[in-house]
Amino acid sequence: MHPLQHVLRVQRRLRWGPLASGSWLLLRTCRVHSGVPSTARPSPERQQEDGVWKDFSSRLASGPTFQHFLRSASVPQDKPSSPEVEDPPPYLTVDELLGRQRKVYLETYGCQMNVNDTEIAWSILQKSGYLRTSNLQEADVILLVTCSIREKAEQTIWNRLHQLKALKSKRLHSQVPLRIGILGCMAERLKEEILNREKMVDLLAGPDAYRDLPRLLAVAESGQQAANVLLSLDETYADVMPVQTSPSATSAFVSIMRGCDNMCSYCIVPFTRGRERSRPVASILEEVRKLSEQVLQLIHDRDNICKQIHLPAQSGSSRVLEAMRRGYSREAYVELVHHIRESIPGVSLSSDFIAGFCGETEEDHLQTVSLLQEVQYNMGFLFAYSMRQKTRAYHRLKDDVPEEVKLRRLEELITVFREEAAKANETFVGCTQLVLVEGLSKRSATDLCGRNDGNLKVIFPDVELEDVTNSGLRVRAQPGDYVLVKITSASSQTLKGHLLCRTTLKDSAVYS
Ligand code: 5AD
Repeated sequence: MHPLQHVLRVQRRLRWGPLASGSWLLLRTCRVHSGVPSTARPSPERQQEDGVWKDFSSRLASGPTFQHFLRSASVPQDKPSSPEVEDPPPYLTVDELLGRQRKVYLETYGCQMNVNDTEIAWSILQKSGYLRTSNLQEADVILLVTCSIREKAEQTIWNRLHQLKALKSKRLHSQVPLRIGILGCMAERLKEEILNREKMVDLLAGPDAYRDLPRLLAVAESGQQAANVLLSLDETYADVMPVQTSPSATSAFVSIMRGCDNMCSYCIVPFTRGRERSRPVASILEEVRKLSEQVLQLIHDRDNICKQIHLPAQSGSSRVLEAMRRGYSREAYVELVHHIRESIPGVSLSSDFIAGFCGETEEDHLQTVSLLQEVQYNMGFLFAYSMRQKTRAYHRLKDDVPEEVKLRRLEELITVFREEAAKANETFVGCTQLVLVEGLSKRSATDLCGRNDGNLKVIFPDVELEDVTNSGLRVRAQPGDYVLVKITSASSQTLKGHLLCRTTLKDSAVYS
């Protein structure tokens, strides 16, 4: 076994045991003091001293251990209750485990897993009181989330370490020393080879050791190199909510598993990321739920995001939804609609529906009619079911609703949808709407067409108008312009009105 791994394995059993190569010595010292190993028994020549030894050894056994001294020396009486530092290792104070406002600069290399791991590492450090910086120059801690997939990926990191070395040596004595850490696959693959080759590296944390980062940093803070490269069979960071690292990010990764068991003959991943393990489904769902909440919040807050959500229901009957394998019931769908409407007042909703799916009864159909009435969609896409080869329905279900029944039900759905949409759109009449101009109307060369904040089509005459943002200049609205339109009539598909003026998103926030 690799010596460092051995140390780590021992430490794992001790939970918070020291893992740094330097502090490992503490553990060995501690063992000699706290037990009486057979090799430490007195020699026969020292038998006359036996009584003294026995007395000493019994006192030693019942007395305080080395750890006891360290613990009572370092842990303050009223320990702050932080979930991350509930059980500090005996050689570190709670205070040392906290970030003390140190600024962390994280740099990510490689795959999407590393992007996600950076968010996990940051989430853990943030909870420990570290601050984040995107400015390398002001960082107190620089952490590289590394990749080992190909040689070139590692070479990039070695080169980067050389640059950082210069930064570290230039650090002023008046500042706290700069700490540099290697996280992820390269830490796992090379272990102490990195510490030996680059003495300026202060800590190593393998992909399964990010929970240990506050402790590793605390050890590094004392000037020792610290490492935890233990791989786990079950670590999925299920309870760590990743913190999006880039505020301008347009996407987020939700990790559902870690590691790999495939052992492709060319690939290092099984060795750097360990055994394949899946994250518990409940924790994945919870993260997705939180992300969805954030999306709703964003739609609510931002004027430049259209307040429209497409929620394809397909049917209003829970029985049919089950046959369709949609994974939700009518009740769950309606609950979601309410939640969205509460989160984004005035949101416009659209949906897809299929009439005459396999086994759909008249009662099921009426349930769909009632869902259309209950939700009152602003837009809808309705289809008669057509069996498609290769689908599950093709193999397992019977396309048993006659064609004429499908078409009749479809007509009924369209009629109800139109009635409801017309009612919903009627509420806009008399209101002023902010409209993003798209171009000429398809039906009339004298009209322009655009979309309101709910993505509803708005038609209005193409006339000269005042530009409120440009000292009242007379202009013609162009595609991409924002205009204010006073709505004068509404149908199930469109709103109609007349132009008031040209404006900007910012100036017109009040109308959106
Ligand atoms: N028959 C009828 N409509 C279908 N859709 C998908 N497959 C079928 C089918 N076999 C509809 C659903 C989907 C939309 C894109 O097309 O309503 O949401």
